[in-house]
Amino acid sequence: MKVLLIGSGGREHALAWKLAQSPLMTEFYAAPGNPGIAEHARLVSLKVEDHEAVAAFCAQKAIDFVVVGPEAPLVAGLADRLRADGLKVFGPSAAAAQLEGSKGFTKDICARYNIPTGAYQRFNNAPKAKAYIRAQGAPIVVKADGLAAGKGVTVAMTVEEALAAVDDCFEGAFGAAGAEVVIEAYLDGEEASFFCLCDGRNALPLATAQDHKRVGEGDTGVNTGGMGAYSPAPVMTAEMIARTMKEIIEPTICGMAESGYPFSGVFFAGLMITAKGPELIEYNVRFGDPECQVLMMRLKSDLLPLLLAAAEGTLDKVTAEWSDDPALTVVMASKGYPGSYEKNTPILSLPEAGDGAKVFHAGTSLRDGELVATGGRVLNVTATGQTVGEAQSRAYALLDKVEWENGFCRRDIGWRAIERERA
Ligand code: AMP
Ligand code: GLY
Repeated sequence: MKVLLIGSGGREHALAWKLAQSPLMTEFYAAPGNPGIAEHARLVSLKVEDHEAVAAFCAQKAIDFVVVGPEAPLVAGLADRLRADGLKVFGPSAAAAQLEGSKGFTKDICARYNIPTGAYQRFNNAPKAKAYIRAQGAPIVVKADGLAAGKGVTVAMTVEEALAAVDDCFEGAFGAAGAEVVIEAYLDGEEASFFCLCDGRNALPLATAQDHKRVGEGDTGVNTGGMGAYSPAPVMTAEMIARTMKEIIEPTICGMAESGYPFSGVFFAGLMITAKGPELIEYNVRFGDPECQVLMMRLKSDLLPLLLAAAEGTLDKVTAEWSDDPALTVVMASKGYPGSYEKNTPILSLPEAGDGAKVFHAGTSLRDGELVATGGRVLNVTATGQTVGEAQSRAYALLDKVEWENGFCRRDIGWRAIERERA
């Protein structure tokens, strides 16, 4: 099978590493890819936003299957364009990708299909939004409606903070994403991520993870794309997984199909486990980054037939096997991230990773044959262990061998799970 993978982050390196192990793979391309992905696939310098160019490349190479990593090309309709040529694609249509592209869309699906989530209202002007906030009181959550790279959400502990967030949105702090705001009740509990493949009708639960969104140790400081993650999430017991499937995933599949937007691809459900049970914070329509890296470390089955089954509508005929050993990944980022940071700083050496350990490339490039850091999040140092504690020790031991002066990381990834293990 000839496969094209779209994307260039750590998530795509993990997918490429796993896909390349498939006996079904005959030719493997990635666009635009990165130096880590280049160990597994031939890189193609396509502009992913140019859907015609991607389609022309697929025709020229007789590609059988396209795996789309990030959300932006999905929301922009790349999967639709390629399917129009008869290609098999892993990833939802633009219409179904609204589940991630529009928070208001998702909230309306939740309301219509009785999916547990925080009570909410949508607003397109500041005075009405502010009146609602004053009436509800704090804590309360203000969200820009559209894609804002994880930065459009304010969890406001005071009414003043919430009012300021409304002004930010309507004054254009998040661009077009802030033209509408969703104001949502604050949910109290522990967060977890749940991943599940879907082919429009059938679902195949994958695994759970927890990430660390804040830049600082102890989960403090500003939000980032994620500074580390581990899988499985201890809070997601078998009972919570069963309830998530029944109360959240299955009604979503039904609701999307009934609304005329059958969903195929991966559901990445951001959950709050409250005293009442699992409640939906948000949907993403692609694998999490860096959650994907820990999922791939634990997946024992061949990934290619699973993704293909999601694209072909045959998920009821496949199963996925997982290692019980937890996996943990630590993100190394450029100093200054998530604010501004220096680019093209040299990475002098990466350690040889052994069994159950792997350094994924997230934001690297080759300049004159030398490895340099080009992104905010640059490397994902990943390891497995018999416990989260052991996986953490192995990941940091590996990370300490990375020679990259401009890099930093959090030293406490996995702390919540490790505290539980010690209790
Ligand atoms: P989102 O971009 O929707 O994932 O939100 C970013 C983060 O804000 C989430 O990971 C949560 O930590 C927090 N958050 C979002 N919505 C709520 C809510 N209703 N209650 C409490 N925290 C929330
Ligand atoms: N790590 C969070 C995300 O991929 O959205």
